[in-house]
Amino acid sequence: MSLFRTKHIVPTADTGLKRCLSATDLMLLGIGCIIGTGIFVLTGITAATTSGPAIILSFIVSGLACAFAALSYSELAASYGGCGSAYGYAYASLGEFIAWIIGWDLVLEYALATATVAVGWSRYFGRGMEIVGINLPETLMKAPADGGLVNLPAVLIVMVLSILLAVGVKESARFNSGIVFLKLFTLLVFIVVAAGKVDTANWTPFMPFGWNGVMTGAAVIFFAYIGFDAVSTAAEEARNPQRDIPIGILGSLAICTVLYIIVAALLTGIVPYASLNTASPMADALRAHGIGWGLKLVTAGAIAGLTTVMLVLYFGLTRVFLAMSRDGLLPPVFSTVNAKTQTPVRIIMISGVLIALTAGFTPINELAELVNIGTLGAFVLVCAGVIVLRKRLPDLPRPFKVPFGPVIPVLGIVFCIYLMLSLPAVTWVRFGSWLLVGIAVYFLYSRRHSHLARTA
Ligand code: ALA
Repeated sequence: MSLFRTKHIVPTADTGLKRCLSATDLMLLGIGCIIGTGIFVLTGITAATTSGPAIILSFIVSGLACAFAALSYSELAASYGGCGSAYGYAYASLGEFIAWIIGWDLVLEYALATATVAVGWSRYFGRGMEIVGINLPETLMKAPADGGLVNLPAVLIVMVLSILLAVGVKESARFNSGIVFLKLFTLLVFIVVAAGKVDTANWTPFMPFGWNGVMTGAAVIFFAYIGFDAVSTAAEEARNPQRDIPIGILGSLAICTVLYIIVAALLTGIVPYASLNTASPMADALRAHGIGWGLKLVTAGAIAGLTTVMLVLYFGLTRVFLAMSRDGLLPPVFSTVNAKTQTPVRIIMISGVLIALTAGFTPINELAELVNIGTLGAFVLVCAGVIVLRKRLPDLPRPFKVPFGPVIPVLGIVFCIYLMLSLPAVTWVRFGSWLLVGIAVYFLYSRRHSHLARTA
């Protein structure tokens, strides 16, 4: 039964970190992390290859799955506050083993998502260089599986971010806020410019790949929404986590969902969907209309915007690692904090090397799908956590409660599993292998080294 031992968590405990983030900061952090490769790159590619103009429906299906999960996240976050996001909530409610699985899942999500976004960033960086007249060699811009040697810009940006994170994260929130406005401005300008160029003929046929295409597209485009959950990794720095984390999660998701649906509709409205299978579809769609300054704006916005996505995801990764290591489930080497910089330098560097290698040598779509299945898996467990916890601890204070009883968490589970089933078999095999490795690590190391085992 020790598999299901739980940890007592004090929601607003003083963990030594400065509680300085407001609800607005948290919302901006969410938007900073959500808007990225998904909208700037994957939307076009998915419309061209999987969904057609019906990518709008893919966004709606995926957005609903996220909304259900976000509501469930909010209930748990409001009850538990900080402590490693979903991993921490699970540790307090569902027990150590499930918590370990979620934590292991989150590591996959944040590490691979950072690598995937680094690849998207590299594409826009290449475009940016072209605009200023510098043509980087193709072989240094692509992973071997895509016909190149190494994706060098992706490797370099990860290295730069690791230095930034190692030096300090306090400034990162401020940096993030500034960039978020640039990113939102970019999308708004795209919307305004594209709105005048729509040719409704481009929306026919609306569903060229049928309903299956819509669902497969939803499972891929789900990636665009990832990031609202990262808000909860900053809970230990939130001034009032029980109130503000739900606001940050739900607010950022709501804003991004509306923007995504509008951008997807316009993108498929201004050019034929089949022409969107390019390295940077949004910028290319504008270029097709001869809008040179729009191209520059989107490119600059995407380069800057994707940088904050990586920054927040990478930050989230180190927080989950820290929480797991602090609980004894991972070696203490991971929770060493550098006294001078007050950041977990070692963990930042180790993760940085792994992320850089993945970004430099793996093709993007396969990565995105693996990130999605991992995240969807974590969402299923978070929704299940709400249901289990309501039965087990009915009197637990719930400053935020998901309405309509268990209906929404159940819908969240159904939607997320349905999306998982829409992902290819090879993604399942990879995900299964990752979980098996995780389970092996748990039984060989974590179970015995857990602080709960020592205090039992
Ligand atoms: N949602 C983030 C993106 O689309 C991960 O880049």
